[in-house]
Amino acid sequence: MSVHIAAKIGEIAKTVLQPGDPLRAKYIAENFLTDIKLVSQTRNIFYFTGLYKGKEVSVGASGMGAPSIGIYSYELFTEYDVETIIRIGTCGAYTTDLTLFDVLNVENAASESTYAKFAWGIEDELIANQGISFEKINETAKELSLETKSVNIHTSDIFYRKDPAIPAIATKYNCPAVEMEAFALFANARYLGKNASTILTVSDIIPTREQISADQRERALRTMMELALETTVK
Ligand code: HPA
Repeated sequence: MSVHIAAKIGEIAKTVLQPGDPLRAKYIAENFLTDIKLVSQTRNIFYFTGLYKGKEVSVGASGMGAPSIGIYSYELFTEYDVETIIRIGTCGAYTTDLTLFDVLNVENAASESTYAKFAWGIEDELIANQGISFEKINETAKELSLETKSVNIHTSDIFYRKDPAIPAIATKYNCPAVEMEAFALFANARYLGKNASTILTVSDIIPTREQISADQRERALRTMMELALETTVK
């Protein structure tokens, strides 16, 4: 048991898939895993452990934003000896070069966030994915004939803002889309010497206000879930 996760030591697998939303974690467990066990539900942040094609894997939510994924990923890495976290989330595209349902494999996360600086003394604005899972995701996608794009992502602390212009940091680091967690996850993994990657599905196109509808969400996210799960058994 850690401060925010009630699972016992040994109840969480070495690889964890981490969506933002607790109900998405439940959906993955119920639809893709066998022998599932609910190992934590503190604050309704569900963690399940089960088998995918015979390999033990856990799935549990990060919540939204750097502070939240900062807490959960740190406790998973340090208290439960997790080696690899694959975040699976959604993002908003800054450009119509991306389309709804595109699947992105995040190479680097750029952020104005002070999380990495004040947590670990990492002063960089741009932090790379950590370890081998990024390459494994690309190899797995190729084997599954899934098209993915390797991109830099803007990790923002802000969802609502008065100025609609693309933030300067996104332009500076060539980020075509925005989400709210990858930077903190990569910072924790870098400091702790662990593996972390992020797969995102484009759920909205900011300039045109197009969005994946609620009933399209499930199908949209299944591709990314399968890609993450197949990567874990590779
Ligand atoms: N901003 C931040 N995070 C997001 C967005 C967005 O527009 N869409 C999905 N995740």
